[in-house]
Amino acid sequence: MGHEQVPKIELNNGTLIPAFGLGTWMSPPDKLTQAVKDAIDLGYRHFDCAFIYDNENEVGAAIKAKIEEGVVSREDLFIVSKLWNTCHRPEIVESSIRKSLDKFGLDYIDVYLMHSPMGAQEGDELYPLDDDGVLIPNDIDYLDTYKEMEKLVEKGLTKGIGVSNFNKAQIERILENCTIPPVINQVECHPYLSQEKLIEFCKSKSIAVTAFAPFGSPESPFKQPGDPVLLEDLVLKSIANKHTKSVPQICLRWILQKDLIVIPKSVTKSRIEENMQVFDFELDEEDMVNINYLNRDWRSFPARIMGLDHRYYPFNDEF
Ligand SMILES: NC(=O)c1ccc[n+]([C@@H]2O[C@H](COP(=O)([O-])OP(=O)(O)OC[C@H]3O[C@@H](n4cnc5c(N)ncnc54)[C@H](OP(=O)(O)O)[C@@H]3O)[C@@H](O)[C@H]2O)c1
Repeated sequence: MGHEQVPKIELNNGTLIPAFGLGTWMSPPDKLTQAVKDAIDLGYRHFDCAFIYDNENEVGAAIKAKIEEGVVSREDLFIVSKLWNTCHRPEIVESSIRKSLDKFGLDYIDVYLMHSPMGAQEGDELYPLDDDGVLIPNDIDYLDTYKEMEKLVEKGLTKGIGVSNFNKAQIERILENCTIPPVINQVECHPYLSQEKLIEFCKSKSIAVTAFAPFGSPESPFKQPGDPVLLEDLVLKSIANKHTKSVPQICLRWILQKDLIVIPKSVTKSRIEENMQVFDFELDEEDMVNINYLNRDWRSFPARIMGLDHRYYPFNDEF
């Protein structure tokens, strides 16, 4: 098993992204450097990061070590990071990516995403919450933020820019007003949230889709009582048995067969390895259809903390 097996998807700026990468949200800093080193040894080349995950230093330390060991070069790796909601004011966009670059110890990243269309109050606090535990919004137009992100490409600080948690109308608005189209929209996607219409729309605009939370984010702090448990789904279990694979592997394979990019998170070496073992089998058409039927438009990440009445809340539209 190696990185050669991982398909690459050509983005609309001509760069190639490995369709499979490692997520790093909630990866404890004391485990993450080792996890990224293990992942690189196992063939992972794409790492999904964000300023708000507060662990870009640890990802950078692993990258540095593996480059020094001669296992990989910078060009072999595909690093994604994200501009946090409190950094939407155009004047601080460049300093925000520079902070991430400093933490990584890199001089460019491969794709820089706007983490969300919803800006939040600027300041030292990364989670400026009101009394109800909701991020205090600001009114900055994500279009103004995006236009500033375009300059980061011109300056060579990132090769591509994209968006995350954007709906169709928001992407259309960007496309109508941008000079550099987004390469990716990163959204939650798994068998309980198949996102068919949004994916079809993005593909029609040559925007690749990255599926986050492929296992339904089992440890998410945003879980609500009564939420379904994707990894215990009986249909998924029976398809897993049929292929002598695990339910997580079935989720990943289903996403990959839809030509999406997927970024499962784990800091456990055996799982980092297990999740990579999805290139030696195929789901047949019946499996794919049966998994498609499981969709229930359930979000593990409803962004409640972002404020349901934020003027740019993306999830009230149909897609
Ligand atoms: N753009 C956004 O707004 C956004 C939002 C959420 C997530 N993301 C990105 O997407 C990535 C993935 O999403 P996520 O971290 O929320 O959830 P996820 O990948 O669906 O699930 C991660 C959880 O599953 C466990 N796990 C991993 N492999 C497993 C396996 N083979 N068997 C059983 N359990 C397994 C992990 O545990 P251990 O680590 O303990 O092994 C961890 O608790 C994030 O890390 C982040 O990079 C982006």
